[in-house]
Amino acid sequence: EKGGYEHFMLKEIHEQPKAVRDTMSQRIAKDGKTIVMDELKWDADYLNSFNKIYIVACGTAYHAGMVGKYYIEKLARTVVEVDVASEFRYREPIVDENTLFIAVSQSGETSDTLAAMKESKRLGAKTLAITNVVGSSIAREADQVLYTWAGPEIAVASTKAYTTQIVLFFMLALYMAEIKKTVAPERVAELIGQLQKIPAQISETLSDVEPLKTFAKRYGFNDDVFYIGRGLDYHVALEGSLKLKEISYIHAEAYAAGELKHGTLALIVEGVPVIALATQKSVYEKTLSNIKEVKARDAVVIGIATEGDEELEKYVDHVMKVPETDELVIPILTVVPLQLLAYYAAITRGCDVDKPRNLAKSVTVE
Ligand code: M6R
Repeated sequence: EKGGYEHFMLKEIHEQPKAVRDTMSQRIAKDGKTIVMDELKWDADYLNSFNKIYIVACGTAYHAGMVGKYYIEKLARTVVEVDVASEFRYREPIVDENTLFIAVSQSGETSDTLAAMKESKRLGAKTLAITNVVGSSIAREADQVLYTWAGPEIAVASTKAYTTQIVLFFMLALYMAEIKKTVAPERVAELIGQLQKIPAQISETLSDVEPLKTFAKRYGFNDDVFYIGRGLDYHVALEGSLKLKEISYIHAEAYAAGELKHGTLALIVEGVPVIALATQKSVYEKTLSNIKEVKARDAVVIGIATEGDEELEKYVDHVMKVPETDELVIPILTVVPLQLLAYYAAITRGCDVDKPRNLAKSVTVE
C-alpha cells in the first residue's frame, strides 16, 4: 500500500508530480492559453458583485490560503483576507451577500472550517470549497466546489494536498484575471506555460535528496530552527516550519525576513540553523541583507535559491537549488525540499513520521 516507500509521507511527496498534473488537467484550454473552470462559470458581473473575499482554513490549508491571497490580489486585483477558521468564526467577521467565502480543506471535514462556512452562508456570502475529498461535508455545504485531484492523503503531515491547493489557487486567480481583464492574455498564456512545466520540475527536485539527508543528519538535533523569507517565500517558510515541528518535534519558527530585527534576531546565536528562501526577485536584495544579518550572528544558513542564482552561495553555508520558473509558481517547487528536510529530520530522530504524537489526520472536534 505504501508503493515501496517506507512511509506514506514519502510516497505522497513523490506523488506530487502526478497530483499536480491531475489537478491541472481539464482546467487548461487545448491551446494552452486560457484557464477553463467548468465548475464555476463565473462572469464579470458575478465577480464585480463582491467587495471582499475571505479565505478560511486551518494548518497547512491556511498556509496555502495565504499563497492564494497573494495570487488573487496580484493577478485579479481583488482584496482578500485570509484567516484561520478557529479565529474567523469567533470574531464577528463582516460578511454579507457581497462576500465570497473560500474554504480550503484537504479532508473537507475540519469542524472549524465547516462551521465558518456555515456561518458565512447564513450571513449571505457565496461559498466556494477547495477540497480533496469528493462528497465531504465542506464540499456538500458549499455553493461551488473546486477539487484538488491529489488522491488519498494518508500521512498526518499534509504534502501533496498543499501543492495541489496552490496550483488550484493559481489557476483560480488566472481565471479571475481573464474575466476581469487585469492581466494581458500573453502574460496569462506565459504563466500557464510555466505551470505546465512544474510536474517535471518537481520530479527533478525529487531526484537528488542526498543533500537534504545530510542536512537532516547534521542539524536534526538542534533545539531550534528558523525559516525566513519575504513575500511568497515567507508563506512557504511557514509551511516548512510547520512540517518540521509536526513530524520531527524540533522547535521551528518562520519569520517574514524583515521582521527579524523586531525581536527574533535576539534568538540568533552561533550555530543556530536558519533556512533562508530567496527566490523572489523584487525583494531579493532585501532578503540578502537579512541573511547577512543572521550570518553576522554566526547562524548556519541553508539558502533555497533558483537555478541560475550564483549570488546566494557567496553568503550562505549551504545552498539548495530548485529549477528556474516564474517566481509566482515557485512555491510549488520550494516547498518540496522543505518537506523532505522535515521527513529526514524525523527519520534521523526516530519519530513516527506518518502518525506524529498528539495529532490526528482530520480534526473534527473543536
Ligand atoms: O483537512 P484539512 O485540510 O482541513 O486539515 C487542516 C489541518 O488540520 C492540516 O492541514 C494540518 O495542519 C496538517 N496536519 C499539517 O500537515
